[in-house]
Amino acid sequence: MTSDTVASPMAQDGATRSLGLLVAPSGRASHHELWAMATSVGLSLDGPARWLTETVRVTSKRLALTWFNQDKALLPLPAGGYEWVERNDPRITEVRLLRETGRVGEVTGTSADNLLIVGDSYQALHALNSIPEYAQNYRGKVKLVYIDPPFNTEQTFGEFYDDNFDHSVWLTIFRDRVKQLSDLMSDDGVIWVHLDDAEVHRARMVLDAEFGIDNHLGTVVWQKADGPRNDLPNFSPDHDTLLVYGKTSEAKLIRSARDESLNSIYKSVDGDPRPWYDDNPTAPSAHRNQTWVYAIQSPITGDLMYPANGRCWGTKQETVLAALSEYAPYKQVVIDDDERRAEVCGVPVAELRKGIPALLLDVPLEEARELTDKRKAAGMWPEYIIRPKGSIGRKRIQPDKGSNARTMWFNSEVGHNREAKAEIKALFPGVNPFSTPKPERLLRKIIEVSTRPGEIVVDCFAGSGTTAAVAHKLGRRWITVETVKNTVDNFTAPRLAKVVDGSDMGGVTQPKERVADISLPDGVTVSMLDEARKVLDKLVKAKVLQADPDTLASLIKQMKTKPTKERLWHGGGGFRTLRVEEPRTVVAGNRAFLVEGAPNLGRWVAAQLGYTLTFDRRGVVGLKNRDVLVVVDGMVDEAQIAHAVSLLNDDETLTLAGVAVHPDATSLLANMLVGSRVIKVPNGLFKQSKVIR
Ligand SMILES: C[S@@+](CC[C@H](N)C(=O)[O-])C[C@H]1O[C@@H](n2cnc3c(N)ncnc32)[C@H](O)[C@@H]1O
Repeated sequence: MTSDTVASPMAQDGATRSLGLLVAPSGRASHHELWAMATSVGLSLDGPARWLTETVRVTSKRLALTWFNQDKALLPLPAGGYEWVERNDPRITEVRLLRETGRVGEVTGTSADNLLIVGDSYQALHALNSIPEYAQNYRGKVKLVYIDPPFNTEQTFGEFYDDNFDHSVWLTIFRDRVKQLSDLMSDDGVIWVHLDDAEVHRARMVLDAEFGIDNHLGTVVWQKADGPRNDLPNFSPDHDTLLVYGKTSEAKLIRSARDESLNSIYKSVDGDPRPWYDDNPTAPSAHRNQTWVYAIQSPITGDLMYPANGRCWGTKQETVLAALSEYAPYKQVVIDDDERRAEVCGVPVAELRKGIPALLLDVPLEEARELTDKRKAAGMWPEYIIRPKGSIGRKRIQPDKGSNARTMWFNSEVGHNREAKAEIKALFPGVNPFSTPKPERLLRKIIEVSTRPGEIVVDCFAGSGTTAAVAHKLGRRWITVETVKNTVDNFTAPRLAKVVDGSDMGGVTQPKERVADISLPDGVTVSMLDEARKVLDKLVKAKVLQADPDTLASLIKQMKTKPTKERLWHGGGGFRTLRVEEPRTVVAGNRAFLVEGAPNLGRWVAAQLGYTLTFDRRGVVGLKNRDVLVVVDGMVDEAQIAHAVSLLNDDETLTLAGVAVHPDATSLLANMLVGSRVIKVPNGLFKQSKVIR
């Protein structure tokens, strides 16, 4: 993109779309510059695109994603939908209380329990970050965030939720929740954002801005489909995309345990404590590594050995020489073998790098043989080994770190959309299943590469509750949030209750791994056996094998495999359900008012100001360091001040909040106690400068 063009999203969508990627030559674009940019792609600033003049901010040579009302916030409305408001609107900056509505299984009754929160995700996350009782357990402590927000796919998923937002609405909702999630994440925490093509490119820019380009750990492609769709005009989409970011550079994914089926190839015939297997001692690209192409004399046969054509020895000559010298004395001798070396290197003799010495025995062959046998008997062989017939091998030590997660995740390993639906149907037979669940195997893999048992997992777009269900089964702690109460009542809560009481037998409870009836020799895995049985079965049916039919039938029977009976999960633990409380403020003009008759005023004021509620000899007060919060559901006057001051310990200060404040109260308290203050509720809580992050 050049410095004065408008990028493709806007160019394609023309004036009807309300966002774009813009790069301007310098600073904030003037109207003239914007006009030039817009007309170059056929936009008129007199029409619906006039908003450009107000909302596009362009920085010198910086690529930035901008969108309509980017500087505003979206207030979730009780009846569904959102309203644009300023980022300092009290209805947005207000910290909502979380009220307990139920307990399932074993819980402690504290904020440290697993939590299913019913309400809007922004408000729930804001509460978790702001109310000290929750913040102390969760702010900066969450190891994994997985979110599967509505994709903005311009469809409506039946009665469950509305997925048809304007892009600007979607981006604002997404950005504000990502910021709250980021505050919850630990420095080594990881966030997985599950999307399809509709918003993934824009979401990535939002995530780049929040976490930094360098903390993008990778992008996983999940094969969600298990067959083609021919009802669509063009492509049949096979995959979703998961964007993975670390909170800081401390975030690292966990390598998976080694594939156990490969372990059997590692042995230790020389007593080496690190098991190894005998690998090919050569490497490719001989023509580029000609100094690694030369003859080695075998200490057993005396023959000269070269790498196969096109290959070279696996390391530099000094390393090979040092290893071979452990078996018998060797010397470096330049021999007349240019033609042979040129053949191995795949180059004409004229282009061969000449003068590379061969490694020849420095003792008679008989003596070399004896020395080699002795060295081998002593054990702990060097990197290059001498095989019984005299050829060379190389020790490949078993890696102890397991393997990195790969970026293509196939449905054979982690399930597909249909499997996820089947899991929900099995849990709730006869009910129209939740529309967009994800398979438990997918969440298992995400959780296992991102967390260890006991760590905290958050999903603030719960849907049917897959993330929490799998986190629970894997022994992780979890918080999940869902805004649609019907979804919670019909799917999320009963599903998680079934996980707790052990009646959920589906998903990862019973892993899909298969086991064999016979005990398998080293190097043979269950899937190999399965394949072999299928092939044998086909050959028998095709009557191409010359063997006794009973023997063949018996072989096929013995080779059968069956699903493992081992269970990953047997039930246990518990969770609390919380509800995001209704707002306490109404706004008229630029003033906020308290909703009449709302209970728990003290608790609510403490949450707004970040005071921890404490029970002591004074009853319930708020505490922040050495400042004591006292809340009066009435007028703060001389008598109230005197009473509150009498409650203080020596080194404490006072914050006295009331719904009305006597005109003299502020100066009276300031004179009595330096560092103390009076706050009028609610306007004193919502300063113009208080803006959501
Ligand atoms: C794609 S679904 C998640 C499916 C989930 N991963 C599962 O396996 O069932 C998205 C969910 O986010 C919920 N949602 C949408 N907006 C929300 C908001 N602002 N706060 C909380 N949940 C929201 C929707 O009601 C829907 O259930």
